[in-house]
Amino acid sequence: MNVSWHSIGLVLVLLSFLTPCCHARLFENIPENEQGDHNRLPNFILILTDDLDLTLGGMQASTLAKTRRYIGAKGMSMNNWFAQTPVCCPSRAELLTGRMFHNLRTGKVDDQGCMHVNVEANSTSPFYSKYFFAKYFSDLFNYTVGVFGKNLNSKNIKTCPPGVDRWLVNGGGDYLNPSFAWHSKGVPNPSIVKFDNCSETTGYPCYSTSIIGNASIDWIRDHVTRERHQPFFAYVSVKAPHIQDGPYFPQTIPAPWYHNVTIPEKMAPRTSNYNLSCPDHHWLVRNQPPLTLLQGQQVDKLYQTRLKSLLSVDDLVESIVQTLEEVNMIDNTYIVFTSDNGYRLGQFRMPVCKLHPYENDIRVPMMIRGPRIPHKSQSSLLGSHVDLMPTLLGLAFAHKSNISVDHQDESIIPVTMDGSNLAPYMVFKERNNVTSIARQMRHEQPSSLLIEYMSLGNVTRYEHSIDTYNHTFLALRIMDDSVSPMFSSNLKYIEFYDSRIDWQFQNSPLELELYDLNKDPYEIHNSISEISSVYQSALHDKVKRMFRCKGKACRDESRAGVFRD
Ligand SMILES: *[C@@H]1O[C@H](CO)[C@@H](O)[C@H](O)[C@H]1NC(C)=O
Ligand SMILES: *[C@@H]1O[C@H](CO)[C@@H](O)[C@H](O)[C@H]1NC(C)=O
Ligand SMILES: *[C@@H]1O[C@H](CO)[C@@H](O)[C@H](O)[C@H]1NC(C)=O
Ligand SMILES: *[C@@H]1O[C@H](CO)[C@@H](O)[C@H](O)[C@H]1NC(C)=O
Ligand SMILES: *[C@@H]1O[C@H](CO)[C@@H](O)[C@H](O)[C@H]1NC(C)=O
Ligand SMILES: *[C@@H]1O[C@H](CO)[C@@H](O)[C@H](O)[C@H]1NC(C)=O
Ligand SMILES: *[C@@H]1O[C@H](CO)[C@@H](O)[C@H](O)[C@H]1NC(C)=O
Ligand SMILES: *[C@@H]1O[C@H](CO)[C@@H](O)[C@H](O)[C@H]1NC(C)=O
Ligand SMILES: *[C@@H]1O[C@H](CO)[C@@H](O)[C@H](O)[C@H]1NC(C)=O
Repeated sequence: MNVSWHSIGLVLVLLSFLTPCCHARLFENIPENEQGDHNRLPNFILILTDDLDLTLGGMQASTLAKTRRYIGAKGMSMNNWFAQTPVCCPSRAELLTGRMFHNLRTGKVDDQGCMHVNVEANSTSPFYSKYFFAKYFSDLFNYTVGVFGKNLNSKNIKTCPPGVDRWLVNGGGDYLNPSFAWHSKGVPNPSIVKFDNCSETTGYPCYSTSIIGNASIDWIRDHVTRERHQPFFAYVSVKAPHIQDGPYFPQTIPAPWYHNVTIPEKMAPRTSNYNLSCPDHHWLVRNQPPLTLLQGQQVDKLYQTRLKSLLSVDDLVESIVQTLEEVNMIDNTYIVFTSDNGYRLGQFRMPVCKLHPYENDIRVPMMIRGPRIPHKSQSSLLGSHVDLMPTLLGLAFAHKSNISVDHQDESIIPVTMDGSNLAPYMVFKERNNVTSIARQMRHEQPSSLLIEYMSLGNVTRYEHSIDTYNHTFLALRIMDDSVSPMFSSNLKYIEFYDSRIDWQFQNSPLELELYDLNKDPYEIHNSISEISSVYQSALHDKVKRMFRCKGKACRDESRAGVFRD
C-alpha cells in the first residue's frame, strides 16, 4: 500500500464536513405525556444479555423484533457503544461499578479473582461494600434495587449486598432447571433455590430466561403495590444467547417451546474477515489454522441456536413493557437494553467466543427509552459500559433537583467511578426545545476509549488457540472529528504484552496493530508501519495515560486529543 496516512487523513477530514450530522433524527417531537415528571424520580430497568453481538446481526435478528419495537423505536440507539474489556466478568464488573478494569484488577497474574477482577464472595469485599452500583442509587435517592439473573461469573455473594432489596443471582448457570442464590432484605438467611417444577404447568422444564423474567416482574408489581412513590431499579440479566458450556462444540439452548421454530437466518454472516488468514496481525491471530468445513457448519448451527434463544428475551422485554403500562409507570421509567460484550463467529479463522480487541468483540448493542429521550433516534456518541452507571445517576439527578441535564457537574459522579455522565447527550433539556438540545450537542464529547484485557492463559476452543499470555492488550478506540489532517477520525490502536512478565505494562509492547476503521472496517490491514514515529509515540503515551487514570482524570483524558493540548 503506498497511499500515505497523511492523504487518507485529509480525505477523511474533508468527508466529515459532507456527512450529515449523526444527530439529525434527534429533533422529532415527543408526546406531551412522555416529557417526564420533575417531581418524581424515574425508575430504571437494565436488561443485560450475555454475548449478544452488534456487528454480526444479533441485535437485528428476526427474534428481537419486539425489543426493537418496544425499546429502539421508542428511544435512542447508541451506535458507538463499547465494552472496554471483551469478556464477561470484567465487562460486567465495569458496568456494575462505573470503574475501569485497571481499577478493579487483582494485584498480579496468579491471583485469579473473577477473570482477574478483584472480588470476594462476601460483603466486606470492596467490590460489594464500596463500588457496587446499588449502594449509590439507594444512598443518594432511596431507590429500591432488585438484582435478577447473572451477576458475575463467580464470586457471587449469597446475601443482598449494600443497597439491594432482592437478590436472585447466579453466575449464568444452566438454561434448563436453573439454580439461584435467593435473598430478600430483612430475611435472616439466604437460600439456594432450584427451579425444577415447571413441567406441571407448562409441560416443559423450567427455562432460565423465563424464570428471571417472571421473578423480575413479580418483584416490580410487588414493589409498585407496596411503595408506589419510591423509585425502583431492576437489573435483569439473562444468560441468553451465551452457549451452554459443555463438551465439544456446545450450543445455546433456546426455550423448549421454541426449540423447533424456523427462523429466516441460516448462516453466520460471511464478513470479509471470516475464515481469513491475517499474517500482519499479532501472534495468536497470524498462526490460526483455517476453519474446517465441519467447524463452519457448527458455527452456523450455533448462530441459529443463539438467535432462537433470543425469542424468550423478546418475550421478557414485551412482558416488562406491558407490566409497566398496566401499573401506569411506563412514562416514568428508563429501560436500557444491552449486552456484556460482543461475539465472534468465524472472524480471523477463530470459531466462536470473544476476548479480542476487534470490533465484533467490543461493540455492543445499547438502546435506551424513557422520559425526554427522543423516539427513533440514533446517536453516534462514543460511550462504554463504564459510563452507564454515571449516566443513569445523571438522569436521576436531573429529575430530582430540577437541574438542567447539561449541567456537567463533577460532583454528581461518585468518587469511585471513572465513567462519564452522558445523560446530557441523550435527553431533551426542556420540552421540545430544539435550540437547547442543539446547544447540548456542542459540548465537548468523549473521543477516546481505553480497551484493556488481561489474558486468561492458554485457552483452546475447538482446535483453535483463542487466548494465550501474550494476548494481553491495551488499546485505544478513537472517534474524533476534530483531529488534525494527519489522522483518520476513526481508529483503533493496540499494544500487546505478556501478562506473566509485564502485569503493569512497563516494558515496551511486544507487538502493535493499527486500523483505520473508515477505510478498513473489518480490521484486515495492520497499518502500524504507515505512521510516523511521532504519531506512534503519541498514541503510546495516550494509552498509558488512560491505563493509569482514575476518576475525573479518566473523564478528562477521554475528551482530550491524542496529542497533549
Ligand atoms: C471477605 O473478603 C475479604 C477480602 O475482600 C477477606 O479478607 C476476608 O477473609 C473474607 N471473609 C470471609 C469470611 O471469607
Ligand atoms: C425510602 O424508601 C423506603 C422503602 O421504599 C420508605 O419506606 C422510606 O420512607 C423512604 N425514605 C424516604 C426518606 O423517602
Ligand atoms: C417452584 O419452585 C420455586 C423454587 O423453589 C418456588 O419458588 C415456586 O414457588 C415453585 N412453584 C410451584 C408452583 O410450586
Ligand atoms: C414466564 O414464564 C413463562 C413460562 O412459564 C413464559 O412463557 C413467559 O414468557 C415468562 N415471562 C417472562 C416475563 O419471561
Ligand atoms: C422437535 O421436533 C422433534 C421432531 O419432530 C420432536 O421429536 C421433538 O419432540 C420436538 N421438540 C420439542 C421440544 O417440541
Ligand atoms: C476456510 O478456508 C480454507 C482455505 O483457507 C478452506 O479450505 C475452508 O474450507 C474454509 N472453511 C470454511 C468453513 O469456509
Ligand atoms: C430553549 O432553551 C434555551 C437555552 O436553555 C432558552 O434560552 C430558550 O428560551 C428556550 N426556548 C424555549 C422556546 O423554551
Ligand atoms: C501455552 O501454550 C504455548 C503454545 O501455544 C506453550 O508453548 C506454553 O507452554 C503453554 N503454557 C502453559 C503455561 O501451558
Ligand atoms: C507469544 O506466545 C507464544 C506462545 O507461547 C510464542 O510462541 C510467541 O513467540 C509469543 N510471541 C511474542 C511476540 O511474544
